[in-house]
Amino acid sequence: MTTLKVSDGLVKDDHLVVGLVSTNTKGGIAIEAGDLAMDTKALVASLIEMGATGKVDEVTKMPGGPTRILVFTGLGAKSNAYSHESLRRAAGAASRSLAGNIGATFALPTRDIAGVSAVAEGAAIGAYVFNEFRGSTKNDHKVALKSANIYTNLSGKAEAKDAIKRAGIIAKYTHLVRDLVNTPPSHLTPDSFTKKLTASFKSAGGLKAGLKVTIWDEKQLKSQGFGGIIGVGQGSANPPRLMHISYTPKAKKTKRYAFVGKGITFDTGGLNLKAGLGMEAMKSDMSGAAAVCAATLAIAELGLPVAIECWAPLAENMPSDTATRPSDIITIFGGKTVEVLNPDAEGRLVLADALVKAQESKNKIDGIIDVATLTGAQVIALGTRTSAVMTNNQSFSDSFIAASKETGEQFWPMPLPIELRASLDSPVADLANIGDKNGGMLVAGLFLKDFVSDDLPWLHLDIAGPAYNEGKAHGYTPVGGTGVSMRSLVRLVEQA
Ligand code: BES
Ligand code: MN
Ligand code: ZN
Repeated sequence: MTTLKVSDGLVKDDHLVVGLVSTNTKGGIAIEAGDLAMDTKALVASLIEMGATGKVDEVTKMPGGPTRILVFTGLGAKSNAYSHESLRRAAGAASRSLAGNIGATFALPTRDIAGVSAVAEGAAIGAYVFNEFRGSTKNDHKVALKSANIYTNLSGKAEAKDAIKRAGIIAKYTHLVRDLVNTPPSHLTPDSFTKKLTASFKSAGGLKAGLKVTIWDEKQLKSQGFGGIIGVGQGSANPPRLMHISYTPKAKKTKRYAFVGKGITFDTGGLNLKAGLGMEAMKSDMSGAAAVCAATLAIAELGLPVAIECWAPLAENMPSDTATRPSDIITIFGGKTVEVLNPDAEGRLVLADALVKAQESKNKIDGIIDVATLTGAQVIALGTRTSAVMTNNQSFSDSFIAASKETGEQFWPMPLPIELRASLDSPVADLANIGDKNGGMLVAGLFLKDFVSDDLPWLHLDIAGPAYNEGKAHGYTPVGGTGVSMRSLVRLVEQA
């Protein structure tokens, strides 16, 4: 974990991070160092000579200045009001480039507490490496930047201290999601997922923080009628689990949300075996479960006054003699039957069980949100950096999208066209697990909608593309697990 601080006055760290912007189309550049006064003229001349342009994700290092090494991080075009996300990304790109170093001061154009918050988040979230499984090459790899010091004239304010404390918690749980996603299925099974979460549960404050964990094993799942989780998990030697984390805040009479996250620790496609090329990315098929669990722990550690019931249905989707066959009929918790025409459409099956279970809770819930790497169609529709939001309640969706905008996570509303629902009709069961190929993301959303009460505000977040970065690292986002949706869930709760 990177230590976060705020300060002004003398810069003591080895590295000083400042912004670099382009001022015109002819290669003009300027330095943006926020509240730090700096003589920039000579530096700009050198930077131009070095070919620096100030574009986003460009990081240029140079010895000298008020410190040992200056780090220029691109903010794009000059502006008098950089967006919080630009600051977050610029801080993140610098922070990534500083792996292996002890300390850096970040002097960026923050303007207000929200800006300080954004820089602190970017610096801390970007300070991430995943070297847990390197053996003989471990020493060849750098550790994340140890400490980030946010330079601001507001450093004396209590709000600045609160902002960096919050940023530290947000980064800690973003990193937890990434670690879980990056951990391969050899080391992350439904059972070990629950064990890793139980360890994090303690670090979030445990029972004292109002948290409680309950885990169902395969025997309990079977005897209690969780046909979706059992049906998906029965082909694997690593049996399925259902994990429930509840958070009850100290404050009485609060809102209560349910979170449900898809937790497929590996998705081979089952008997509908996926092609080998790219299958390794399916270790990320538990990103939704990781995000909702981490968000719940973050909400508890932040002590937010909203109760959370978090559900993670966990299973490994494998082909074997015990796997669910195409045409098998399973019974979802609560009694609805599903004809499994395609065992690769497994996420919706485990989610259906958990969605029904979540609504059975004695505690009245004000809203339910499921998060899932659910469809390849999501990636086709929105690409790899924008997630989809589907809903039965426009204003709930609007509040979520507004909250997500503040975090810099990109979400976009998608419809649930009722005419597509008929494609899920089955000649033999209550419904089938696949329907029309066209609009596959929406069809999956409509499947889930069948398991949610019409009068309960519900959001379905399809994060299939954004959960796992198979491209290049950018901003505060590394290659591999990204942690997406965790921050938006926390932000929504902060605003509830
Ligand atoms: N886990 C996949 C969806 C996915 C695809 C996530 C790409 C991340 C990247 C899901 O279980 C799946 O296999 N969905 C099928 C559904 C289809 C059979 C209706 C798909 O999208 O192809
Ligand atoms: Mn699948
Ligand atoms: Zn899947």
